[in-house]
Amino acid sequence: MKRTLGVCYYPEHWPEAQWAEDAVRMAALGLTWVRIGEFAWKRMEPSEGNYRWDWLDRAIEVLGAAGLRVVLGTPTATPPAWVVAKHPDMFAVDENGHTRGYGSRRHYCFSHQGYIGECRKIVTAMAKRYGGNPHVAAWQTDNEYGCHDTTISYSEAARVAFRDWLRGQFPGAGNDGDIDALNAAWGNVFWSMDYDDFDQIGLPNLTVTEPNPAHVHAFRRFTSDQVVAFNRVQTDIIRAHSDAPIAHNYMGRITDFDHFAVGADLDVASWDSYPLGFLEDRVGASSERQRAYAQQGDPDFQAFHHDLYRAVGAARGAHPKGGGRWWVMEQQPGPVNWAPYNPAPLPGMVRLWTWEAFAHGAEAVCYFRWRQAPFAQEQMHAGLLRPDSVVAEAYGEAETVMAELANAPEVTVAQAPVALIFDYDADTAWTVQPHGAGLSYFGLVFDWYRALRKLGLSVDIVPGTARDFAGYALVLAPGLMQMADDLKAALAAAPGQVIVGPRSGARDDNFNIPTTPMPPDWPGSDLVVERVQSMRPDMRIALSGAGTVHSYLEQIAGRGAVVLETEDGAPVAVTCGPNATYMAGWGDDAAHMRLIQTVAPQLDVEEMPEGVRRRQTGAETFWFNYGRSEARIAGQTIPAAGVLRQAT
Ligand code: GAL
Repeated sequence: MKRTLGVCYYPEHWPEAQWAEDAVRMAALGLTWVRIGEFAWKRMEPSEGNYRWDWLDRAIEVLGAAGLRVVLGTPTATPPAWVVAKHPDMFAVDENGHTRGYGSRRHYCFSHQGYIGECRKIVTAMAKRYGGNPHVAAWQTDNEYGCHDTTISYSEAARVAFRDWLRGQFPGAGNDGDIDALNAAWGNVFWSMDYDDFDQIGLPNLTVTEPNPAHVHAFRRFTSDQVVAFNRVQTDIIRAHSDAPIAHNYMGRITDFDHFAVGADLDVASWDSYPLGFLEDRVGASSERQRAYAQQGDPDFQAFHHDLYRAVGAARGAHPKGGGRWWVMEQQPGPVNWAPYNPAPLPGMVRLWTWEAFAHGAEAVCYFRWRQAPFAQEQMHAGLLRPDSVVAEAYGEAETVMAELANAPEVTVAQAPVALIFDYDADTAWTVQPHGAGLSYFGLVFDWYRALRKLGLSVDIVPGTARDFAGYALVLAPGLMQMADDLKAALAAAPGQVIVGPRSGARDDNFNIPTTPMPPDWPGSDLVVERVQSMRPDMRIALSGAGTVHSYLEQIAGRGAVVLETEDGAPVAVTCGPNATYMAGWGDDAAHMRLIQTVAPQLDVEEMPEGVRRRQTGAETFWFNYGRSEARIAGQTIPAAGVLRQAT
């Protein structure tokens, strides 16, 4: 498959007389894809049942006639005022019990059946009308599930649906669940929290002090299932009328629903990559690092999500090891409007970000957006064109990439030497019980990812449901608080080396500490976690040799060989089997890099200069320089904000 570029376009924002010229300019730039429609519900259905497809018919025709392929978005992220008036209780409710209001977007609760009915109607009407349209070459469901903190809702609709979901989790006689089983599983004897009936179960907000973690954990699993079900309503309808692939555009560092489960209903995973916005508002880097990379973005954050969504893209159908189909559906082209500070990218970065996506196997990169809007919320958000249609900086970089693509190979993905497990349910478990302020599963996994990348390694992210680890020299499984026995067995039998911990198997499926035996209960090992502590962010415990641990440290006992220990001689990493090492703490980069190299010395490691990262695809090797000055590597020079690409 060819690597392609595209753009996000809103025909409803511009006079119809401008469409044809826009389409011709997009095609002249070499773009393949144009995504439209995802917020245009009010223009498609101005009042209930009164569909207006004429303008959309013409827009698709104009774009298609110019040679562009349309990605058609369903508009369910922006229910218009008439939908809200008809279903006044369709809003999500926040943790404080406040209803989230109308006037922006994503103002719905995933559990509201009346709203789901409205979605079913508009998506059915769209799918029937455009399912056979030759220019509609792909679909996008909704827009960025979970963005603006919209997965979890404490609404009445959610309460009713949660009780039913729990009845299904604890089945009893007839249609009712087994409430005694739930009480026992959650340990409700503690503080006399036992329920007599499922209808007494509330949502885990507004409690006087901490709610039962088992309750919170169940509620979060339920909300994830609600997102999956919401999306499936749309994919079932679209598939009944269209053969075109279906995608959803996920976001960066949104972990409160299981993207692999949503992905099982989609053909292509895609995500919206805003490197500078993310650095300011969700990477969690130190202020010194934020300053150093303010105009480039974090050197690992984009790649992490590329690798993650390549895995999510493999959730449906059969794919070779290494991952499935994925795109960048929205690529930051210049300053955005929504982060605390919104700097301009360094010259070269839009090109670098685009090539980095291709290096990680993207089929397409679409820039957000074609033209900057002079009105409403995103007036301060750059596009490829200025509001007056003059080209903006990113346009030239897209042109450069187009020219370079002419001589580049097709999309290639090879299995990486290292697999890193990322499990959304584990993220939920850490969110429910971080055991220390700010400790997050995402943060831990991302730290391991950065250590691998500083060693120049390419990584396959794999889901927690993976059981086949053949071909990987090293598998990392940090922080899996709940670990199925068959996952432990598959890892213990993996042909490569495995690093697990901390918190491996620390909770059972009902969020209780297993006691027979105590964690981690690793096959064939006597290793036991005797005590756990979390630490202030400014505390560091030095290891003998390089590196420190911080944030989280377990006291472990057993006969395994010590691989890392503190300066005081406490074991931090120990072997727990012929191929497995248990890491009992949260290491810094030096500790993680040491452990990787000690455990898997056969890996082709190349230590990267600051800001430089390497990615190997089988057909090509890439080096990306996120730094502000040129870097030397492999006997070559990479300019600041530059890319080096070599055939292998
Ligand atoms: C994305 C969103 C777009 C637009 C963009 C601005 O999160 O999907 O609709 O709002 O951000 O950066």
